Parts: sequence; C-alpha cells; structure tokens
Amino acid sequence: MVGRRQHWETVYHNKAADQVGWFQPHAASSLRLIEACAGTDASVIDAGGGASVLVDDLLDAGYRNLTVLDLAESALAVSRARLGARAEKVQWIAADITRADLPAARYDVWHDRAVFHFLTDPADRTRYVAQVLKSVKPGGHVIVAAFGPGGPLQCSGLDVMRYAPDALHAEFGALFRLLGHQTETHHTPAGKEQEFVYCYCVRV
Ligand SMILES: C[S@@+](CC[C@H](N)C(=O)[O-])C[C@H]1O[C@@H](n2cnc3c(N)ncnc32)[C@H](O)[C@@H]1O
Repeated sequence: MVGRRQHWETVYHNKAADQVGWFQPHAASSLRLIEACAGTDASVIDAGGGASVLVDDLLDAGYRNLTVLDLAESALAVSRARLGARAEKVQWIAADITRADLPAARYDVWHDRAVFHFLTDPADRTRYVAQVLKSVKPGGHVIVAAFGPGGPLQCSGLDVMRYAPDALHAEFGALFRLLGHQTETHHTPAGKEQEFVYCYCVRV
C-alpha cells in the first residue's frame, strides 16, 4: 500500500496545481471567514494548505504571520515558486498534521479546507484535535471545511468522511464553541459539483 505522504507527493507530481479537484482560483470563503475573526497581525496556520492560493490571498490582504503546513513538500514547492520572493514571509512546514511538532498556544487562527475529511481512522482524528488544542491560543479561531452529507465518498482516490455541521463540530468537542457554519458548492476544474461544509469555532 502506498503511504500517505507518497500518495500526495504523486498527486502533486502528476497534476498541475490548477487541475486538482479542490483547486480554487481564490479562496474567497476562507479569506472572508479569516478576516471576520482576526486582524492582519494574527498568527494563521493553513493546515494541509497544499498548493492553495489562500496564502497569496492572505498576503494580499496584509496578513504577515502565516504558516502553511502540508504533508507533500511538492505542494509547498508549488506555492513557494508561485509567490517568489514573498514566500520568504511565510513559514512552511512539511509534516503530517496528526504528528507534527507544533508550538504550543501559537496560532490565532487554524484553517483547514479539505484535509480533516481524509482522516477516516478515529485515532487520527483524535490526534488532529489534540494538535489544534495544543497549538491554537485560547480564544483563537478554528475554521474547518469538509465534505458535506451530499459530498463525494472519495477524493483523489482516497475514502473520505462526510459531515453535517453538527457532526463536524462534535468531532472537536466542547472545548470548541461553534460560532456558525455555511454550506458551499465547489465546482471542480472537471466541472463536477462538491458540497462543502464550513464550521467556524472559538477554542475556549
Ligand atoms: C484536497 S487537498 C486540499 C488542499 C488545500 N487545503 C486546498 O483547499 O486547496 C488535501 C491536502 O491535504 C494534504 N494532506 C493530506 N493528509 C495530510 C496530513 N495527514 N497532514 C498534512 N497534510 C495532509 C495533502 O497533501 C493535500 O495537499
């Protein structure tokens, strides 16, 4: 069986970043939700950010304390190349989010689009939530976007979980107070529609 890291490295080697199913020309909803909860001096981590342009959008909006973490070094390389000299303003971490050695109480905002739903093993989800609890400051915000109940059963050849808003929030538990949620239809470059649920919480 191909390991998790190798799977994702292969995906980013074989497909252009703007041809993967999750590509967005701009991460509009993510940017709006981050701007609604934190100013430009906030420390923001995009967990499983891949080659997403969210980091570009955040830099354009004036955010200057940004971290992008992803399992696939090749995805981070795509973003670094796209950003050019601006990449030096960003901290890049190539690691598994369930095992990375993250700093304690460091982040004001944790953002994840389309990563948590790949954690089909409950033990991985427990480790993920522990990482959020450790590294997000009390009072910080957590934004997680996962496939909704009408979303696909697989993505990138991997099984995924699908969540209604309450079920997604329940994975995180009482230490995360739900502020709201929204459902969005993502249009893939191949023309398919995918239902995403965004939940946003405060880490109490
Ligand atoms: C569907 S893509 C979403 C990328 C990005 N968040 C976006 O919205 O464009 C999932 C990303 O999660 C990364 N990933 C998958 N499992 C991971 C893990 N356990 N730790 C860190 N990153 C992971 C993959 O390499 C990939 O870049």
